Amino acid sequence: MKKRVLSGIRATGRLHLGNYLGAVKGMLELSATGEYDTYFMVVDLHTLTTPYNKGTLKQSVRDIIIDYLAVGLDPEHNTLFVQSMVPEHAELAFYFSTVTTVAKMQHLPTFKDKVKQHPDHVTMALLNYPVLMAADILMYKAALVPVGIDQEPHIEVAREIARRMNQDYGTDFPEPKRFATKGGYVPSLTGEGKMSKSVEGSYINLADSLEEIRRKVRSVPTATIAGGVMSDGVKALFEFMELLAPEKVDSFQTAFKDGSLKFVELKDAVAEAIYNELKPMQEKRKQLEADPDFVDRVIKEGAEKARAVARQTVFEVKQKMGLA
Ligand code: TRP
Repeated sequence: MKKRVLSGIRATGRLHLGNYLGAVKGMLELSATGEYDTYFMVVDLHTLTTPYNKGTLKQSVRDIIIDYLAVGLDPEHNTLFVQSMVPEHAELAFYFSTVTTVAKMQHLPTFKDKVKQHPDHVTMALLNYPVLMAADILMYKAALVPVGIDQEPHIEVAREIARRMNQDYGTDFPEPKRFATKGGYVPSLTGEGKMSKSVEGSYINLADSLEEIRRKVRSVPTATIAGGVMSDGVKALFEFMELLAPEKVDSFQTAFKDGSLKFVELKDAVAEAIYNELKPMQEKRKQLEADPDFVDRVIKEGAEKARAVARQTVFEVKQKMGLA
């Protein structure tokens, strides 16, 4: 049997360049080897753990499925599906919550960050977020999980739950590993921290035009620091270059060192490299938007395929736990 790969993206609107370089490229890479049985989901239940817009949720979910298709994940060879259409995820998360302590969940850095961001929404669902994510992964007994480095503590929780379940109940969950992509850390356009949907002015959408990308990249702060030290904004520009047009890095580095670098030229070269990467996806996306029946079919068939596996896992767990 082929090893399984699983990953998921939260439904909070269209994907941005950080999602693409940090996670989606890893999905494509693993899928292209043909060596894995791949499951890629839109995690709409996770979206409910922080304040969200119920009027646009369904469209956001669909948008991510379309983005998966547009980047080149073909539904014949990848199971593309929506988490809430496989209700076994919530069920398995409940069983897993019986082997997970409250203290452990309260200490996770991701939980603490969210508590700071949304002090009035510290719910049981938020505390249970990593347990639901463990259920997503272990449901398919996935060995590899392509996600950004910030998700490592959650993968560790999944490993701990796998060990506990195997020890206490004799299940056979493998311990999943993170699959790291080269773009595991994508810098913010503000020059501070990582690119993120929740920081205005930090990200580029996969749908942005060349003009928009140019405008955003030109706004990266590039104040020069005395002594030829690179500021964080300039570092970020070089990191984008490294990720998207590595062949151009050397000549810009040389220019930086001898003081002849014009930042606007570096910025426009970065903008162009980003756009070149996004353009084919934008074209594919237009075709997909014109064929809603096809997208509906992908969503329906993906859920059916995922559910067949999910029913089997939940059945095994219920038996081992003495419920069935
Ligand atoms: N927590 C992940 C993120 O914010 C999203 C996610 C939920 C996920 N379930 C998953 C990622 C399962 C990988 C596998 O990026």
